[in-house]
Amino acid sequence: MTAPRRRRPVRRAPNPSREQLATQVARFARNTEPGMRVLDAGAGRSPYRHLFDHAHYEAADFAQLSTKYAPLDYVCDLTDIPVEDGRFDRILFNQVLEHLPDPAAAVQELHRVLRPGGRLMCSAPLFYAEHQVPYDFFRYTRFGLRRLFEDAGFEVVRLVWLEGYLATSSYQLDVMSRALPTDPRQVRAAVGRKRALYLTPLLWLTARLAGAVAPSLARADGRWKYTKAGMPKNYLLVVRRPAAPPAGQET
Ligand SMILES: C[S@@+](CC[C@H](N)C(=O)[O-])C[C@H]1O[C@@H](n2cnc3c(N)ncnc32)[C@H](O)[C@@H]1O
Repeated sequence: MTAPRRRRPVRRAPNPSREQLATQVARFARNTEPGMRVLDAGAGRSPYRHLFDHAHYEAADFAQLSTKYAPLDYVCDLTDIPVEDGRFDRILFNQVLEHLPDPAAAVQELHRVLRPGGRLMCSAPLFYAEHQVPYDFFRYTRFGLRRLFEDAGFEVVRLVWLEGYLATSSYQLDVMSRALPTDPRQVRAAVGRKRALYLTPLLWLTARLAGAVAPSLARADGRWKYTKAGMPKNYLLVVRRPAAPPAGQET
């Protein structure tokens, strides 16, 4: 009888994306004047509600997942928000776009509920594993994001990498450390005894090295946002609904 194999401890690397996002939302909140109406579209647990204590914060979500939700003002699909045109001065739209089967319809609806001159902040992944399944439909390039928002009538104010390539690499290594198959029986069954002789230690070593390096790369991203090559995990976008033309100048 063989002794049961000890499982590798799960050591997760820090998440620079959440840290960067919190910094960016705080900046968006500082540019939100007291009393302004803010919609958190796809709010989930409303992790940024406290940053908008000076404003009038409202949360919308379809609340279909089995996770916990913060108190919601609107339980609705983002393609059909039950409020009047132009109600909000600011919209937060973080980590939601990839979950929408009809993103163009949702972005048009957000354009409708934002007042002319109002701003929306969005973050969306380019490189991230499937999550919140089965509600996970898309990943976004910067060209896809620009097209989606401009087609709905928004002007792009800022479109940048949320985190640098060190963070993306850290994320990939962290996944690798847990996902690579390192059980010798599994490797033998897949590639045969002979090849398993070198593949098993190679996979084991790769997984261990990946797990050891990932946290340092994640921490380094906080000091050096490297964007010259590679790819971001997420893009960050701030868009504006153009102000209405002065009366008498409508085309
Ligand atoms: C990854 S969570 C992000 C939550 C929050 N914005 C944050 O940054 O932590 C995605 C959220 O989108 C919501 N969602 C997904 N599809 C939706 C839809 N069609 N209409 C409204 N909300 C939706 C989910 O319920 C979930 O709360």
